[in-house]
Amino acid sequence: MIFDLQRARRETPGCANVLHFNNAGAALMPEIVTDALVNHIQLEAQIGGYEAAERAHESVEHAYHAAAALIGCAPTEIAFIENATRAWDMAFYSLPLAPGDRILTATAEYASNYIAYLQVARKTGAIVEAIPNDDHGQLSVEALRRAIDERVRLIAITHVPTNGGLVNPAAAVGRIAREAGIPYLLDACQSIGQMPVDVEAIGCDMLSATGRKYLRGPRGTGFLYVRRTLLESLEPPFLDMHAAEWVARDRYEVREDARRFENWETNYAGKIALGVAIEYALAWGLDAIKHRVTTLAANLRARLRELPGVEVHDLGVERCGIVTFTVEGREPEAIKQTLAEHRINVSVSDRSSTRLDMEARGLSDLVRASVHYYNSAEEIERFCETLKTVWPGGGRI
Ligand SMILES: Cc1ncc(COP(=O)(O)O)c(C=O)c1O
Repeated sequence: MIFDLQRARRETPGCANVLHFNNAGAALMPEIVTDALVNHIQLEAQIGGYEAAERAHESVEHAYHAAAALIGCAPTEIAFIENATRAWDMAFYSLPLAPGDRILTATAEYASNYIAYLQVARKTGAIVEAIPNDDHGQLSVEALRRAIDERVRLIAITHVPTNGGLVNPAAAVGRIAREAGIPYLLDACQSIGQMPVDVEAIGCDMLSATGRKYLRGPRGTGFLYVRRTLLESLEPPFLDMHAAEWVARDRYEVREDARRFENWETNYAGKIALGVAIEYALAWGLDAIKHRVTTLAANLRARLRELPGVEVHDLGVERCGIVTFTVEGREPEAIKQTLAEHRINVSVSDRSSTRLDMEARGLSDLVRASVHYYNSAEEIERFCETLKTVWPGGGRI
């Protein structure tokens, strides 16, 4: 598969400044996305915010079509929300739960989601259960199947967890959820934009996504998908005059489409720019992106394993663009800081972001190097060479 790396880098001005392996934090925006963002803000400054929104109506609407095309749903099943967490929350907190109702999740579940489970469990008496992993370190589909009974009200998992390189078997989970008729909420925050994510193929009923990670959109953007058949039965935890209409002194009507989960006031520039970022990803092709990202990440893992003292901690049958590792005797935060001095960006994942997984593996902090398609083989070399020069023997870290 030929990938036009030169073009990808040319269209990404940040590539000239930094070696960016923090794409699972926030990827570098392509120029076309920053232009869309800045142009709309300029328009707001020039003609007024409301007037700019009116003039940009088509671009805003287009964003819904782009998101729908990306995940294989209808535009009416999309809500734009300011981040993946709030998108996920809007779906989760809409679900009616009662004492004894079971929520099944995965071991590598993300902290914000788990905190929400704990809060709702405390308030409603529902029970949250993490399904164990299989021998490959991904959610055990068999254990999930065995856990199903008539009290399970929700299956909610993270597709690509915060760290660990893992891609959970989302479609196998979807088949179980469908057979049992249980709503299925997928946190696709870190998979969206780095691989094809199709809600029909996966079989999820709700899905949350962020803009700034692999989609390469602006910060403070995200979206929620809710299947049409579920929409009507989910009343959002917050309503405003965009989500609902005040039809009589003592009555309101919630709108029919997924925009019932949105706010009236919103970041129009961000929404337009996210639409452009999605179009841009679609133009590259999600299969091509996945192939490129997984190949780069596999190469990075292989190179890191050659370095003495480095341990790669990734899991799963299928692995993605996220590579996590530790260096013997070195604090991940210190490694991050030292790399930053060389204009190399990585992040650190701490235990509390995926506590069940990290505790089970006896890990505290990890360095997370996450690649995107615009990264190059040369950057992988430079990354590993830099790590070597700041090696314990080299005494720099
Ligand atoms: C698995 C997962 N879900 C959700 C989120 C939260 O996304 P956002 O910051 O857009 O709310 C993250 C962020 O790192 C994440 O890793």
